[in-house]
Amino acid sequence: MQSQRLRICLLQASPHQDGALYSDVGCHTNQHTFEDRFIHKDSLHQDLNFAAAENFDLYINLLPWGWCRGLDIDATVLAVKHLKRLSIPLIGLPGRIVDKCTLDSSACLLLRDVANAGIKHDASLGDIYDCLVIVLENTPMALSPILRHSSTLLKRTDRKLYDNLRTTAENAFYANDLHGCFWCTVSILCTNDSELTTVGIRPMPQIFLPARDRSRGYSIEDSAIHGSFPGGHRSLIHCLVASYFLKVRRSSDVSRVIGQEYDGVAANYDLTTAGVYHDGIREIVTKYQYGGIVLDLACGTGLVARLNGEAQGLGAGDPENFSKFIGVDVSVSMRAECLRGGWYDDVIVGPIQRVLIAYVDPVDHIICIGALHYLDINELYLVLSRAFQLAKFSVTFTIDEIPESYNKALSRSGRAHMSGFNHLVAVDAYGIPVGWKLADRWRRLGWNSPTTGDEVYTNVFVFEHLQEVVPPCN
Ligand SMILES: C[S@@+](CC[C@H](N)C(=O)[O-])C[C@H]1O[C@@H](n2cnc3c(N)ncnc32)[C@H](O)[C@@H]1O
Repeated sequence: MQSQRLRICLLQASPHQDGALYSDVGCHTNQHTFEDRFIHKDSLHQDLNFAAAENFDLYINLLPWGWCRGLDIDATVLAVKHLKRLSIPLIGLPGRIVDKCTLDSSACLLLRDVANAGIKHDASLGDIYDCLVIVLENTPMALSPILRHSSTLLKRTDRKLYDNLRTTAENAFYANDLHGCFWCTVSILCTNDSELTTVGIRPMPQIFLPARDRSRGYSIEDSAIHGSFPGGHRSLIHCLVASYFLKVRRSSDVSRVIGQEYDGVAANYDLTTAGVYHDGIREIVTKYQYGGIVLDLACGTGLVARLNGEAQGLGAGDPENFSKFIGVDVSVSMRAECLRGGWYDDVIVGPIQRVLIAYVDPVDHIICIGALHYLDINELYLVLSRAFQLAKFSVTFTIDEIPESYNKALSRSGRAHMSGFNHLVAVDAYGIPVGWKLADRWRRLGWNSPTTGDEVYTNVFVFEHLQEVVPPCN
């Protein structure tokens, strides 16, 4: 089964002013097709109407990046208002935020209220940090702050300052009600006595600058993405697409139907999967140590914690168990079975692609066995990127090589919603996030499908965090 290839329209300003650069979103992924549509100020309504008539799957509004540099905020406002009327699927700044903006000295959109707060950007007062915040669904996630005067990415080892700056940036998002904005840069003054004050917010500044222009170094925003967003620019595009569709397709959530299917098999799940499937999990949990807080994504009946504990000769609820498991699963009956076993402190009900966006507390390890094939590639990247953001020590997951014969058999029996993706190529393309290493990878027979009779091979990936390796920004 192929992940759906989307036709994505990039609305670009024409002419681009003052040597401003066109963002090259499409060079980062070949999974979707990106087409530019150039919008002229003097035929703005007609150009936008034509673009909308082409019925793209998704539109990304890049107009502010061209026109604002020509110091024309009015055209940008007009365009944003007209795009709202067109009701097309759109990633772009909402009108109510553009209305609150002015232009800064380099002609980028800047939130007026914050800029007018009367705080001077005087270097003698302290250091300015720029912190890019990525917004998935409604949750802001600050990336590594960058010290403006030297363009250096702050290390996670500077834990207190690093965390405080990121919290300040995320709070600024909420305080200024930037919901609807997909990313923003929050500039924070850190005074000589370590007080943090937000001194500027740029909603959706230009990112994805073309590779040829990186000879001059990355922009602040592209540096932050390259150096601290797991999976880099490629993953970010997929995450934004996933986040957009998760937001608008709440009512047609495929995972809910999958959860209902698993509700039906929960009581017998451990029995029907005994054998090769359990052996696979046992191999993982005996080869690697999972001490600390473990987030088990799509935990099912809780085999991971049980086999991990039993391999150490422990029983459920044993105080000697140094692992504390928290599960996430979309099936309420799987959750009930899992909690009944007594190996998990809690199980959150919901699709992992939504729960992980809302989950903000760091954990020691993240595990996901036997479930990523239910996600499309956008959701897969979102889950991986969130996992690498949240896990302090390791991320372990399996990628099943779902055969076409399996998907076809499911379709024939009217259960196409249970078919899956073979994400092996996508995971290889995702790469190894900055600051992590691929500690281990192996392939084995994963499971035999009880419904179609297919043998499914699985690939185990174990990533470990490298302590504080920060890449150069340029
Ligand atoms: C094959 S079972 C694996 C369960 C467990 N990880 C194990 O290895 O025994 C797949 C599990 O994924 C859950 N699941 C499928 N899609 C999900 C999603 N998007 N979010 C959360 N759980 C999901 C199902 O409810 C089911 O419990």
